[in-house]
Amino acid sequence: MTHSHNFPLDRWYVAGFDWEVGDAPLGRTFLDRPVVLFRDAAGKVAALEDRCCHRALPLSCGRVEDGALRCGYHGLLFAADGQCIDVPGQGKIPAKARVAPYPVAVVDQVVWIWMASQPGGQPDCEPPRVPAHADPRYRFKGGAFHYRAPYQLIHDNLLDLSHVGYVHTKTIGGNARVHMEAPTNVGADGEHVRVVRHMKASQPPATYTAAWPFKGLIDRWQEIDFHVSHLQIFTGAVDAGAEPIDNPERGGFHMRGFHGITPETATTSHYFWTMAASSHPDQPDNLDTVHQQTADTFEEDREIIEAQWRNMQRFAQPPMVDIHVDAGANRARRVIALLNEGATR
Ligand code: FES
Ligand SMILES: [Fe+2]
Repeated sequence: MTHSHNFPLDRWYVAGFDWEVGDAPLGRTFLDRPVVLFRDAAGKVAALEDRCCHRALPLSCGRVEDGALRCGYHGLLFAADGQCIDVPGQGKIPAKARVAPYPVAVVDQVVWIWMASQPGGQPDCEPPRVPAHADPRYRFKGGAFHYRAPYQLIHDNLLDLSHVGYVHTKTIGGNARVHMEAPTNVGADGEHVRVVRHMKASQPPATYTAAWPFKGLIDRWQEIDFHVSHLQIFTGAVDAGAEPIDNPERGGFHMRGFHGITPETATTSHYFWTMAASSHPDQPDNLDTVHQQTADTFEEDREIIEAQWRNMQRFAQPPMVDIHVDAGANRARRVIALLNEGATR
């Protein structure tokens, strides 16, 4: 198998959420490879190469029958392991009638797919967990966005939350200068990059005041954990001075974001996100507002990133200037560059 583009392989990527895979086959392209997702007879999510081995119709154009996938052209039927199990009107099934399966696993309602460097490559680790999805302190909701932009531009955006004060003035913004001046700590450990930012005594933004009865100014934190296939971002705040914000057990308002960034092609991306938030006993019904505002916030990011990418294509990629806020994003870019270099060596 040859691929025109270089992506870090032999790892789990997000293919979607458990609730997205229903009765109909779901076709999606990951890392330039077309895949069809469906449910087998036991209700488990399965994934196959999205190409019928007869005359190459996408299998996602077909239908699911008792946990097997019926091609929508001449009716070949494929089991969840990719084996053809029925050729209508022909008794004998050709030995080569099979399509390649992909390993998938559903954990914490996230559907993960193993993207191997070699045909038939199998997972050598468990998929990542999203602890907030199973934590009774939180409720979460999420969605799937499609981006007309390369996936690393989304990494850049999420690793540099100084943009929040400029892009998200209506929701999670607050004072732009406070965001830009926040002490920022960048650490890296193998393929993991961590960015921690504290914003003491800052103005609570709209989403925070809608969700939590803050008394006045707040002490805010942003803890960003980057992994090659996804980011988890823990943000939140307490009343200013109420308690230390570097204590892992701190109270206050919590937003735990999960961001599965899966390249679709070299220039388009899937962005699978959820937001888990805590609720105050006096404001138990605020979470729908939080989720709506989060979706609005991510839509604002998409507009910015797609406009950025369109403009990058209008100019012949002249060099860009770095500033202090780029440390985390540059670190993550180095992780991916090293992985891609290693793969071509
Ligand atoms: S193309 Fe699928 S059965 Fe012919
Ligand atoms: Fe943003």
